[in-house]
Amino acid sequence: MNTHSANIQLEIRKFVAPEYIFGIDSRFLVGQYCQKLGGQKVLLATDNGILNTPWLVEIEEKLKEADIEYVIFSDISPNPRDYEVMQGAQVYTQNKCNMILALGGGSVMDCAKGIGIVATNQAHIKEFEGVDKITRPMPPLVCIPTTGGTSADVSQFAIINNYEEKYKMAIISKATVPDVALIDPFILTSMDEYLTACTGMDALSHAFEAFVSNASSAFTDLYALEAIRLIDKNLLLSVLEPDNIQARGKVMLASLYAGLAFSNASLGCIHSMAHSLGGYLDLPHGECNAILLPHVVNYNFNAAHEKYDLISETLQIPGIGINSQANKKALMNYLFQMNKKLGIDKTLQQKGVTFDLISLLANKAIKDPCNATNPVPPEKEDLEVIYKEAL
Ligand SMILES: [Fe+2]
Repeated sequence: MNTHSANIQLEIRKFVAPEYIFGIDSRFLVGQYCQKLGGQKVLLATDNGILNTPWLVEIEEKLKEADIEYVIFSDISPNPRDYEVMQGAQVYTQNKCNMILALGGGSVMDCAKGIGIVATNQAHIKEFEGVDKITRPMPPLVCIPTTGGTSADVSQFAIINNYEEKYKMAIISKATVPDVALIDPFILTSMDEYLTACTGMDALSHAFEAFVSNASSAFTDLYALEAIRLIDKNLLLSVLEPDNIQARGKVMLASLYAGLAFSNASLGCIHSMAHSLGGYLDLPHGECNAILLPHVVNYNFNAAHEKYDLISETLQIPGIGINSQANKKALMNYLFQMNKKLGIDKTLQQKGVTFDLISLLANKAIKDPCNATNPVPPEKEDLEVIYKEAL
């Protein structure tokens, strides 16, 4: 298919993005950005893993240089829990904070967004699940991502684990877009191989889902395809050569592009199913996406085959032609191989999913708002079939 002759989306679309600063040492701008936003007392949200890294010490120094007081809140789990958000909001209020700084991966940034929402809206975080449920803007929020994939630093999404009911709540609203993202690829050099692989596959899933989303646009397509191209060329390289700063930078850029794409075009079944899976079994988000991605391509392919073929062209997958089934197989095979090379080689069964859990997982996944923009509107039974195929 010739990309120049393809029709573009001409329905009304909008694009929302925060101010973002990309580049080596951009993290050191934290003091001046907190000052610009009127920060007097900052809630510094992070996690216990980052507490012992040089990143935190550097950020604390920059805040001190800028005469900004801060209080650290680090009780944040991977897959952040609703009660952690509520505790963080309490710390924010008790310490009379007036802005939030998040230093961490997706979990920390999502939890920081949740804390901000609760701090100004004075209700339990569960009240904000769904699309556009937030009435009052949250306090100023600056994000410094420490992983390359989640893009919570630029997105309109916050994902919080409903701990009692064991599923992840998707909170989608323009009110969750941070004010500033300081995106510094140097921080990625401290990620281990598996985290690099999983977070990179999260970014690839964002790009895939945004590109085939029924809310995609000419501008989200631009970012999504370039994200796919960059991840294809650089993700494995940054796993094999952790100190290769060019590869790290390109994965970080891909994550940013995929984030801008999905924040505005939304997602699909990979994420609705990964939210259910990750919430129930407390599994890493990127790993769930990586396992589900080829199977969701299989399910969606006929409804969006022209777009999937454009992805295959971008990936330079050989032999893409008029045989749609062969094209689908070739793209799925590329994804299976990619996972294998990255060391993501477990099936859902090996991750603890049993046959009798599937109905429950599909029940939770079908309620997730990400399904709304999947190219095929799924039924619960469809999601069950996809889970079974990934077992
Ligand atoms: Fe994601």
